[in-house]
Amino acid sequence: MNSNNLDKRYVWHPYTQMKLWNASDNITIQSGSGFNFIDSDKRSYLDGISNMWCNVWGHDRTEILDSMKNQLDTLPHSSLFGLINEPSAKLAKRLVTIAKGMSRVFYTDNGSTAIEVALKIATQYWNNKGRPQKKKFICLKNGYHGDTIGCMSVGYVDGYFSPYKSILLKTVKVDSPTIRHEKFGPQSIEQYVNRIENILKRMSSKISGFVMESGAQIAGGVNIYPERFQKEISDLCKKYDILLILDEIATGFGRLGNMVEYTAQRSEPDIVCFAKALTGGYFPLAVTLTTSKIFDQFLGEYWNKRQLFHGHTFAGHPVGCTAALTNLDLYEKFNLIKKIRFNSRSLDKLLTKFSEFEICYDIRNKGLLCGIELRKQNKPIKTIDNMPIGHYIAKESLKNGVYLRTLGNIISIIPPLAISEEDLSKIVDTEYQVVEKIQKKIQLMK
Ligand SMILES: Cc1ncc(COP(=O)(O)O)c(C=O)c1O
Repeated sequence: MNSNNLDKRYVWHPYTQMKLWNASDNITIQSGSGFNFIDSDKRSYLDGISNMWCNVWGHDRTEILDSMKNQLDTLPHSSLFGLINEPSAKLAKRLVTIAKGMSRVFYTDNGSTAIEVALKIATQYWNNKGRPQKKKFICLKNGYHGDTIGCMSVGYVDGYFSPYKSILLKTVKVDSPTIRHEKFGPQSIEQYVNRIENILKRMSSKISGFVMESGAQIAGGVNIYPERFQKEISDLCKKYDILLILDEIATGFGRLGNMVEYTAQRSEPDIVCFAKALTGGYFPLAVTLTTSKIFDQFLGEYWNKRQLFHGHTFAGHPVGCTAALTNLDLYEKFNLIKKIRFNSRSLDKLLTKFSEFEICYDIRNKGLLCGIELRKQNKPIKTIDNMPIGHYIAKESLKNGVYLRTLGNIISIIPPLAISEEDLSKIVDTEYQVVEKIQKKIQLMK
């Protein structure tokens, strides 16, 4: 059996209706080159979503690959249970230097577990302080923090998680604002902030932490916070003695044009999570960072049970930590943040032409994150050619040599962070052609 047949017989794909998958002509990726995937027929696809938002340098960054190979030769793995390894110690120091206010690093191997750890740390922090009644989490509607039970509870997106609703933790969910295309006029955040303050005023004695993505919600629909919103939440958390837990898993490391988004937002988290771009996308590694105020509450004697009861087999994986260290060296060496800001300005310009399409209801972008929302007569476009719109766009994009997934009716362009200006404009141009085709089809349907 070739890979395609083996896959159809044995593999269960994430977020996939397998009946449709098994009836489809699927693509097998055999190699990577630059920012492209190459399939078994040698066709190449430019990566418009940075391999689920984690790829930084493309697939052949020799510095990262060589450092990982070296580490594999020296020590393939040694866990953090009762032992130290050098890369994880060095990386922790480096991260704490980058992330202002943070003091300690807890290692896991994916974004969801980094968030689970944050939730456990917050819960135990209040327990250790003798305030166990502070155990509820408050979070933003349309937030997304991963697919485990705790993550789904604080990041509920109805379109994804309704089958699991009955087993999720009860959390408090509040509305959040999003920036809109300038055609919508100025926006106010006051009403959102006031509503949140009213809830905190009433409930702060029961609330452990405020959980939100830092800078923008991606999976929930590319909702980019207006200026000051995150700072206002941070100030409210301080005022009402609530921990601020920020998720920079998708938005940190330059995605929004800043190495650490919370600093740019002038917010002060107690706990922050990074993953995805941390290793340039070369290894599954995630971190949960805390301030010393949090960490110190976990100190005591063993029999007092103040220590954090959490740990994964692959925590602090030396190969992943080595990849992350080399990745950080490259960020500095190539001044990647400056390059991202330059490409972000190019993206601004490239996107202006989408405004000519009637179906482009809103276009929002920041750094190298962009969402193009498609609507017809103010209603989300759901299907084209009897296909969910997302499938249609993904298929058309692949046909034109671009790998892209949408968020329902929102085309999300989330390219590798070190992409060239030329490749970036190729992705945007391809999506322009796809939208043009959809607009024509919609006009014919009138
Ligand atoms: C903001 C955010 N948090 C958490 C996660 C979960 O990360 P992972 O898929 O590595 O579990 C994601 C994944 O897309 C994310 O976008």
